[in-house]
Amino acid sequence: MSILIKNGRIITAADDYIADILIENEIISAIGKNIHTTTSRIIDAEGKFVFPGGIDPHVHLDMPFMGTFSSDNYETGTRAALFGGTTMVIDFVIQTKGKSLYSALNEWKSRSDGNAYGDYAFHMAVTDFNENVKTEIKDMIEKEGITSFKTFMAYRGSLMIDDRQMVGLMNEVKKYGGIVTTHATNGDMIDYLVAKNRSEGNLAPLYHYLSQPEITESEATGRFADMAHYTGVIPYVVHMSCEGALNQIRDATKRNQKIFVETCIQYLLLDASLYDRGFESAKWVMSPPLREKKDQAALWAGIDQGIVHVVATDHCPFAWEQKKSGEHDFSKIPNGAPGIENRMELLFSEGVLKDKISLNKFVEVTSANAARIFGVYPAKGTIAVGSDADLVIFDPNEKHTISAKTHHMNCDYSGYEGWEVTGKCKTVLLRGKVAVDNDKVFIEKGYGQYIKRKPESKHNR
Ligand code: URP
Ligand code: ZN
Ligand code: ZN
Repeated sequence: MSILIKNGRIITAADDYIADILIENEIISAIGKNIHTTTSRIIDAEGKFVFPGGIDPHVHLDMPFMGTFSSDNYETGTRAALFGGTTMVIDFVIQTKGKSLYSALNEWKSRSDGNAYGDYAFHMAVTDFNENVKTEIKDMIEKEGITSFKTFMAYRGSLMIDDRQMVGLMNEVKKYGGIVTTHATNGDMIDYLVAKNRSEGNLAPLYHYLSQPEITESEATGRFADMAHYTGVIPYVVHMSCEGALNQIRDATKRNQKIFVETCIQYLLLDASLYDRGFESAKWVMSPPLREKKDQAALWAGIDQGIVHVVATDHCPFAWEQKKSGEHDFSKIPNGAPGIENRMELLFSEGVLKDKISLNKFVEVTSANAARIFGVYPAKGTIAVGSDADLVIFDPNEKHTISAKTHHMNCDYSGYEGWEVTGKCKTVLLRGKVAVDNDKVFIEKGYGQYIKRKPESKHNR
């Protein structure tokens, strides 16, 4: 099976040129001008951009959380991702306290195996680091291809680990070249503020925001950076939302420390004024919460400076009915929001077209850097001979409006309802197959593969 994509403007993290791309089976076999082939499948990409398939390294599909499950599963979530140009996601397996990493991995496999449209990999969230878990780290990296270990510095009682466990985990992961990632907020400070607000009768979603001031994130980010510096492990901060946290990274670089930083599309585009809408604000109850305009400015600058490496989504949708479980108490609103489908088009429209980032930077933060950091480069994250044919043929001029009525995520509202976007993913290929074309899906459930990863290496940066 071969496909020829003709005359597209090929954009990678480094290049920008017009050429044809020949795909044979799952792989790009040639790139050049006027490629001749006998294939009958020719896609005319004149006037369009061709990007590497997007990689979203922060999603929660079918995630058990706060007494319910996130509303997109592997089928609906990876399918919606494809519509938005994201061909690979990295989800979080979450250890249950008292149980092994392998038992969590098996549970996640039972939900994902055979159900995905798009490619996927796993991070392992360690919620209970002990002597038994320590013995599983090597196998996770070397046998299972899970090279990144997520920690939560918040959600005490369910997901949080303490600093003693954090340092133990970092030491072990470092031995095998893995990465430790974290949700960097000070859980105990937040719990104190949540309890205080509840006891004072402050129960609206606004108090979710007011219970997580910037200092809770900047303090934890600095502490995490310090522990990583001490142990020498490669650190990655997930879903950074604020200037104070980014300044901790700036400080860490002064001692020559390398820290990877991820922000999410919502922190670049939405702000805390959305918490002034009564219970409707539950749509944006997520952790960390949306911040201020000055934080957005800092994060855009961080991308430009190359100290924010990845724009992800933290896609963790809950249907409105699920959000309503916190109607009378903000602390019971399941934390999280939909976004997996909107990330690439929003970042193009609001970032590239508004001159905040270049086309090359767009590719860097939507696929190339995630591929390098999480060990799938250059199979993914670039357009090169020998790479997987994961490609997005993108019309930079088509305008459309985001709405829950038309999106494909299993969520009955959108955090971006009514947003006008310029630029659309027209055709999306995954490992050589047309997966989506003109708003229709052409692959079957189960085509998405589990991708084993290799430890991040200096050679990939
Ligand atoms: O609110 C969020 N972010 N929900 C998902 C879990 C997490 O903390 O990433
Ligand atoms: Zn988190
Ligand atoms: Zn998350």
